[in-house]
Amino acid sequence: MSDTAEKTYPPSDAMAAGAHVNADAYTRMYDASISDPDGFWREQGARVDWIKPFSTVKDVDFTLGNVHINWYADGELNVSANCIDRHLATRGDQTAIIWEPDSPEDGALHITYNDLHANTCKMANILRDMGVGKGDRVIIYMPMIPEAAYAMLACARIGAIHSIVFAGFSPDALAARVNGSEAKVVITADQAPRGGRNTALKTNADQALLHCKDTVKCLVVKRTGAQTTWVDGRDYDYNALAAEASATCEPEVMNAEDPLFILYTSGSTGMPKGVVHTTGGYLVYAAMTHEITFDYHDGDIYWCTADVGWVTGHSYIVYGPLANGATTLMFEGVPTYPDASRFWQVCEKHKVNQFYTAPTALRALMGKGRDFVKGADLSSLKVLGTVGEPINPEAWKWYNEVIGGGRCPIVDTWWQTETGGHLMTPLPGAHAMKPGAAMKPFFGVKPVVLEPTSAEVLQGDPVEGVLCIADSWPGQMRTIWGDHERFEKTYFSDYPGYYFTGDGCKRDEGGDYWITGRVDDVINVSGHRMGTAEVESALVAHGKVAEAAVVGYPHDIKGQGIYCYVTLMGGEEPSEELRVELRNWVRTEIGPIASPDLIQWAPGLPKTRSGKIMRRILRKIAEDDFGALGDTSTLAEPAVVDDLIENRMNRS
Ligand code: WT7
Repeated sequence: MSDTAEKTYPPSDAMAAGAHVNADAYTRMYDASISDPDGFWREQGARVDWIKPFSTVKDVDFTLGNVHINWYADGELNVSANCIDRHLATRGDQTAIIWEPDSPEDGALHITYNDLHANTCKMANILRDMGVGKGDRVIIYMPMIPEAAYAMLACARIGAIHSIVFAGFSPDALAARVNGSEAKVVITADQAPRGGRNTALKTNADQALLHCKDTVKCLVVKRTGAQTTWVDGRDYDYNALAAEASATCEPEVMNAEDPLFILYTSGSTGMPKGVVHTTGGYLVYAAMTHEITFDYHDGDIYWCTADVGWVTGHSYIVYGPLANGATTLMFEGVPTYPDASRFWQVCEKHKVNQFYTAPTALRALMGKGRDFVKGADLSSLKVLGTVGEPINPEAWKWYNEVIGGGRCPIVDTWWQTETGGHLMTPLPGAHAMKPGAAMKPFFGVKPVVLEPTSAEVLQGDPVEGVLCIADSWPGQMRTIWGDHERFEKTYFSDYPGYYFTGDGCKRDEGGDYWITGRVDDVINVSGHRMGTAEVESALVAHGKVAEAAVVGYPHDIKGQGIYCYVTLMGGEEPSEELRVELRNWVRTEIGPIASPDLIQWAPGLPKTRSGKIMRRILRKIAEDDFGALGDTSTLAEPAVVDDLIENRMNRS
């Protein structure tokens, strides 16, 4: 370990003095949140405006067969009213969203809370006129443009459940989500500009809709003005309709436990599952974590570089910041366009105070050298954040010194699509940070480290094992869309009585937490989750592939890369052309984010006598760590392993 890994970085006196939560407050509040969760969360419930106040706070059971999670269950509220209307009297003319387009030459937009209100209401009225009502599902397949936020808030306003599909997903993946959620409408745009290239979103949507019920409608937002095909009766022109639509729309009264959104995410088995988040608890948790983790103060300019297609964009570009009346920056582009100085140019241009990004972006930018940072004035920055994967000490140090000038605490936020908001993170004014550590649980979060096989709770420090959470917090997912049984099985069956995170972790001598990565068959590619089973089923759907096994391997920039062992059908020969063909195949089946990094031709795969692929061995070979393959005595054909090791040079 390098010296950075041992040194700790306490908050400055000024930071500790001015922060919402300092070290004493953290201890006091954390203890209160654990000893009296009802009292603690009753008080925090006041962060949002209720149409009808709640009387009960927490009603939770983690027992297999009876898992239910309810927060503020008899309260009524509307999320869009909380994110917009309640701010109008005091900050109607304040900028709610700063929009920074893909090309710096196009100039930014400043959307005030008044504008946000008018635009959200228009979109809500358009959706209502298209036949969308409370409880109906709407798919959002959009570039990072303000209309994506209007669409989310418009759904929330009329009680529709949105499900965002990241614009990097393929038509097939989009169709699966439209059908899986039985959506009535898909909202998309003509094109999505990113890094100077345009993705034909509407064309993708057209292709997807060929595989959906013909009652599904499509609302099309103009971004580039590119011509698209048009299906009369199915396609609706957002810009034409918005010009006529009313700018007021009464928000629907929603129960705290009505679903707010579904977000599909990869698991260790099967196809992506629809994670369901509800209204009251989610909003309280998103707002609270946004304010406290980033130490957001009124008037600050906050920027999270994620895409609204991921949960980070939901909680920390849209819902958390807007519930707090913040100014949130929405960026359409990529960190390296027009060049690797873009992030820092945008920070200077908009005087960003809190900046939140992913380790993969930092590693990529670090590799381009300091010259790209030098030209930018970064003195406005106060707090830096990371999310998505463990951050290596080298990247942490670069972030701290080169970007933060040694002045800015770094919040390494560990959480998941399922958790709705941060579960572990250092707080800027409270904790002495350790590079690479997620440090401390957020309020109300009770982490436990279990021995993986015996499920015994490991006491004392230091310990290492699988990470579970012993009790609920308001932002927790409630179910898997349409499959509560799968929800219970996935998260509550391996370690009974606990929420199982799928991550491994260590608790060090000081009682601080370090996430060690997934312990299941999920890989983390550039901070995005990918199920190895999904890539495998895409590969075997190709006519020339007999069998495939996919594992992660260490990748300098992406954190993990996608390594595919492919067995071809009898009579098929490996070739470079076929490799290219398979890569493109996976890109069309799932999307560019699932593109295989390495493909190794495998005449056979290591299997147990019962036919189960031994991924542990495949992971070791992919990591070039075949000295320690462990017990191979249960293999049906041990020679297969030697062949894979010998022929690993076939990978590329
Ligand atoms: C998985 C969740 C939460 C939004 C982005 C990803 C990994 C996430 C960290 C972190 C170490 C992290 C975990 C987790 N992860 N943040 N700060 N340190 N690992 O959401 O796609 O649901 O993935 O990402 O493995 O389980 P997601």
